[in-house]
Amino acid sequence: MKFHHFIPTEIFFGEKALDEDGEIVGILGKRAFIITGRSSSKNGSLNDVLNLLNRMKIEHDVSHDMEENPSFSLVVRITDKVKRFKPDFLIGIGGGSVLDSMKAVAVLSVNDIDPIDLYDQGRYSKALPMVAIPTTAGTGSEVTEYSVLTNDETRMKGGFKSNLIFPRYSFLDPRYTLTMSMELTIATGLDALSHSVESILSTRSSEMSEIFALRANELIFQNLPKVLKNPDDLECRSKMLFASMLAGMAIAQTGTTIIHALGYPLSTFKNLKHGLANSVLMIPTLRRIEKSHPNRVAKAITPMKDVDDFEIFLKDMLSNLNLRMNLKREEMEEWARIGSKAKHLKSTPGDFGYEEILNIYEEMMKEYGEGDKR
Ligand SMILES: [Fe+2]
Repeated sequence: MKFHHFIPTEIFFGEKALDEDGEIVGILGKRAFIITGRSSSKNGSLNDVLNLLNRMKIEHDVSHDMEENPSFSLVVRITDKVKRFKPDFLIGIGGGSVLDSMKAVAVLSVNDIDPIDLYDQGRYSKALPMVAIPTTAGTGSEVTEYSVLTNDETRMKGGFKSNLIFPRYSFLDPRYTLTMSMELTIATGLDALSHSVESILSTRSSEMSEIFALRANELIFQNLPKVLKNPDDLECRSKMLFASMLAGMAIAQTGTTIIHALGYPLSTFKNLKHGLANSVLMIPTLRRIEKSHPNRVAKAITPMKDVDDFEIFLKDMLSNLNLRMNLKREEMEEWARIGSKAKHLKSTPGDFGYEEILNIYEEMMKEYGEGDKR
C-alpha cells in the first residue's frame, strides 16, 4: 500500500458552527474581506459572519460581485477591491463559484501576477489566509487546493491547483443549504457524486482516498432523493453537506477525470450547471471505461449494483429538470479535439483519443439532445 494524504484545512461541521467556534478566525487578523454572492443574505450565513466580525471588532468590507463560472475579469475586479481594503484574510460565503473566486483573489492580491499566471505555480509563493463557508452541498471547494476559472478570451474553463489555496478554516453549517432551489440541490448534489465516483475511478485513487469517496457515494445515493422530497429536512441536508465535503477531500488527493474536463464547455457555452454537465457525461464515459477496467468502474459506483442501476438513479434525479441540449456537430468536434489534450486524461483509466471523446458527446446527445425520445 502506498499513498500521500494532505489536508491542512481545519474543519468545523454542524449547526451553529460559526456561533460556537467562529472566534478562532481572530488568529488571522483584524481586517477581513468577505467575498459572496446574493444568496448568503437569504440563507442566514452572511448575517452570522457579520455578527461574528462585529462581536470580535474585526474591520470588514463585502463584495457581492459574483457570477456562475467565474472569469478572469471577475477575479481581477474583486482583487482591486481587496487591494484597496488591505485585509489580513478573506472569507468566502457561497457555492463553488464564490470559493474558487476567493482562492484566485487570495493569490492575485499578494503577488504581482495576472490570472493566467495562476496556472504556473512557480509564479507565486504566497496567498492571503482564507475562511470558507459553503452554502451549497456539492463543490467540496472548502477542503480542496483547486480553483476553476474561465478565460474571458477563449471562454474555456480551466482549473489551477496549489497547496497555498487550501482554506485555513472551513465552517460547514447545513442550515445554510436549506434555501437552495431544487435545480441547485440536484446540480450540486450530482457534482459531489461525480467527485466521489471520479475519485475512485482515478488512477491516483488510494485506499485512503477511497474511504472518503465510498462513504460519500453511499450518503448521496441515500440522501439526495430524500432531500428532493423534503427540502426542509435538516438531517438529510446535513448528510449531503458532509458527503460533499468527503468527496472534496477525496478529489483533493486524486483530482477529477475526463468527465469534469468534457463537462466544462457544456457549462461555459451552453449554460449547463457544472454538476449537471458532469452527470450527463457520466454514463457514456463509465460504459467506455468499463470495457477495459470493469472492476474499477464497479467500485466507483458502489453501492450501485451496475452501470444500468446507476443510470436509473441519475435519470431519476435529472427527470426533475427538463434537460435538453442543442449542440452542433462542429461544436462537439471542437470540444473533442480540446478534450483529447486535457490533463485529466493522465488520471483517467482507459484510452481516450479524439474519436472516443467525440463518441461520448454523441452518446450524451442521444439522451439529452433536442427532439429526442424524452
Ligand atoms: Fe466539480
